[in-house]
Amino acid sequence: MCKISLSRRNKEILIAVCSFTILIILYKLSGKSRSVSNAKEFSQTDSIHTKEETLTKTAYRIQELEEKISILEKQIPKTYPDVRYLNYLARKRILVTGGAGFVGSHLVDKLMKEGHEVIVADNFFTGRKLNVEHWIGHENFEMIHHDIVNPLYIEVDEIYHLASPASPPHYMENPVKTIKTNTIGTINILGLARRVNAKVLIASTSEVYGDPDIHPQPETYWGHVNPIGPRACYDEGKRISETLTYAYAKQEKMQVRVARIFNTYGPRMHMNDGRVVSNFILQALKGEIITIYGSGGQTRSFQYVTDLVEGLVSLMNSNYTLPVNLGNPVEHTINEFAAIIKELVGGNSKIVHSSEVEDDPQRRKPDITRAKKYLNWEPKVNLNVGLQKTVSYFREELRKFSHSQRNKFVPV
Ligand SMILES: NC(=O)c1ccc[n+]([C@@H]2O[C@H](COP(=O)([O-])OP(=O)(O)OC[C@H]3O[C@@H](n4cnc5c(N)ncnc54)[C@H](O)[C@@H]3O)[C@@H](O)[C@H]2O)c1
Repeated sequence: MCKISLSRRNKEILIAVCSFTILIILYKLSGKSRSVSNAKEFSQTDSIHTKEETLTKTAYRIQELEEKISILEKQIPKTYPDVRYLNYLARKRILVTGGAGFVGSHLVDKLMKEGHEVIVADNFFTGRKLNVEHWIGHENFEMIHHDIVNPLYIEVDEIYHLASPASPPHYMENPVKTIKTNTIGTINILGLARRVNAKVLIASTSEVYGDPDIHPQPETYWGHVNPIGPRACYDEGKRISETLTYAYAKQEKMQVRVARIFNTYGPRMHMNDGRVVSNFILQALKGEIITIYGSGGQTRSFQYVTDLVEGLVSLMNSNYTLPVNLGNPVEHTINEFAAIIKELVGGNSKIVHSSEVEDDPQRRKPDITRAKKYLNWEPKVNLNVGLQKTVSYFREELRKFSHSQRNKFVPV
């Protein structure tokens, strides 16, 4: 139905453009023939007068047609990715805080495609409209410019609470705001969930384990966090966020879920987030030196964003209420990782080591026994496949950037 009306509109535009072109040609021809046949009859002044009149009429007609084209263009309906139809009983109204961010926008894609109504609340601190641009205008989608440090009053069935800066340069930029987002913001979201009796999932992090002294980290491990270090605003912020969640659950008998998310990568991740994946890909794509902080023997496990999104939705739909690690247990040293990215991108970037970063965790690997047992979940996307998609995204972002640089107006 949508396709038929689209092609009809396109036809209308095509007809308008054709008639506009024909009109110009006719005017030009008539101008020429008239000037030849009537040359003897009209004086030079008359001829100039007629041409001026013709030009004015043509300009007027062109303006009319341009207006018509722009009206028709506005009527062309936007096309959206395919969305399942869910009836009233099956369709849920879901709030995703931080839904314009990296993980949030992929979660929105999944929930929208499943046929739910999705409301995004975001203050665009690190998120951007472009990440959810393909849904804007869809009848099941709504975006609210909102800072969750302020209360939000809406009616929803489920809440995925993701709003929080996630990468060190972002959360360290304004540590007090990071703490407010994870404390006051979480209280506001839990309060909203309590008021409307919604199920709520809190996006926590592997950072609650700090610099772990057991390996891999099961959910039963209490962590090893420096409460006054540079990362404390985030680590302790997320820890209190979890504490608040279980306090509300116990006191208010609410349905809560807590996901402890490990390092995630994929398209739409921030190019300047200072994390290993983005740093290395960007440096390799630009042919710059690939910098490893410290010896490079420290490990990270990386999960592809669609795997994480599957895990978040499975957790929300499960009956499991304790924290669940969501991450990829396949461990790589930073050195190995630099080599893989260099290989994937190609080019002549050199790999060099620089001084260690303060409080940088040495080893990080999730124990996902719980997720396997209770959610039947484990990551599926192969590292090379995921990295290739991420490299393509970064390459395209760099291309767009250099294109806009060329077209930028620089005042003299
Ligand atoms: N990406 C990862 O590797 C990772 C790892 C562990 C945990 N997490 C958690 O997952 C969640 C999403 O992370 P991400 O990687 O998508 O980060 P992101 O920075 O891309 O997204 C966070 C979103 O929250 C929004 N936001 C921040 N403060 C807000 C506020 N006060 N009010 C409203 N919106 C606000 C941002 O604008 C952004 O859109 C975060 O809670 C993060 O702590 C992510």
